[in-house]
Amino acid sequence: MTIRLSSIQKIYKVGVERVHALRGVDLEIKRGEFVAIMGSSGSGKSTLMNILGCLDRPSNGEYVLNGKPVAKMGASALAEVRNQEIGFVFQSFELLPRSSALQNVMLPLIYSPKRWLGARKRARHALERVGLGERVKHRPNQLSGGQRQRVAIARALVNEPSILLADEPTGNLDSKTSEEIIALFKRLHSDGQTIVIVTHEEDIAGHAERIVRLKDGRVMSDRKTAEDPIHREYLDRMAVAAADMAKHDAANAASNGERSPAIPGLPGSGEPRVTVAGAGSASPAVVRPGGAGGGA
Ligand SMILES: Nc1ncnc2c1ncn2[C@@H]1O[C@H](COP(=O)(O)OP(=O)(O)OP(=O)(O)O)[C@@H](O)[C@H]1O
Ligand SMILES: [Mg+2]
Repeated sequence: MTIRLSSIQKIYKVGVERVHALRGVDLEIKRGEFVAIMGSSGSGKSTLMNILGCLDRPSNGEYVLNGKPVAKMGASALAEVRNQEIGFVFQSFELLPRSSALQNVMLPLIYSPKRWLGARKRARHALERVGLGERVKHRPNQLSGGQRQRVAIARALVNEPSILLADEPTGNLDSKTSEEIIALFKRLHSDGQTIVIVTHEEDIAGHAERIVRLKDGRVMSDRKTAEDPIHREYLDRMAVAAADMAKHDAANAASNGERSPAIPGLPGSGEPRVTVAGAGSASPAVVRPGGAGGGA
């Protein structure tokens, strides 16, 4: 077991007011798992991540990390755990603007005297792992958003942490770049990395093995992704939308009259033919909507 949280509460005091950000969270995460944490804004996701990452302490409850109760750790033990056991990735990357990718990634090694020897090589290797071996000298403003987040991920990985935590890592990225980042997480996960990621996007969460949903500081549900009813409903909705879109495209193609592509080796190839999709032509060059050519 990598992570065990029991009855975790977090109460923030703001003036005389008390905000119950977490109201008794129980959560276990095993080594090698890939977990998504979801929930509406203010439900306590970042508070939970900060506790998991030992950036903050719970007001009540117990956190056991790799078999050790975090509450019993002194300041220096805690700093060591944060540096060695945990890699944190943030929505806003949090890179040093005047430092190169390589220097950014080397940063956690400075606090790790054992690892300072060969730090450059290690950092370079971490950058290669995230596909940025060619960008080591670039400063953050010389990189794209997705590349910046890759640098941040390399920095999180450079000490080979037991857990990679990412709080909305794709929150500032467009959907194509988000897909690239999530593909990177999947690759790291298949290499054995334990990953916990916060996201608002069902499609991003769909790449994790398990979804934990928070509501008002409590765990509302905790299921395998494939068995999560909200996620299944989302997939059903997407399937219906995709089918509607295909029908719509087919109807458009039919009303416009579709030009079939010429396929080498077929009779009549090279001469563009105009056929109407779905109008009964037997030509294999015509792609019928809804896979109607399957002969079912
Ligand atoms: N440092 C703080 N001081 C006081 N209250 C806080 C603090 N941090 C968070 N809160 C409150 O705790 C609750 C949970 O906040 P948290 O940031 O964990 O939510 P979240 O689920 O991450 O939301 P979002 O999706 O918007 O990032 C909120 O009501 C928030 O206002
Ligand atoms: Mg948050």
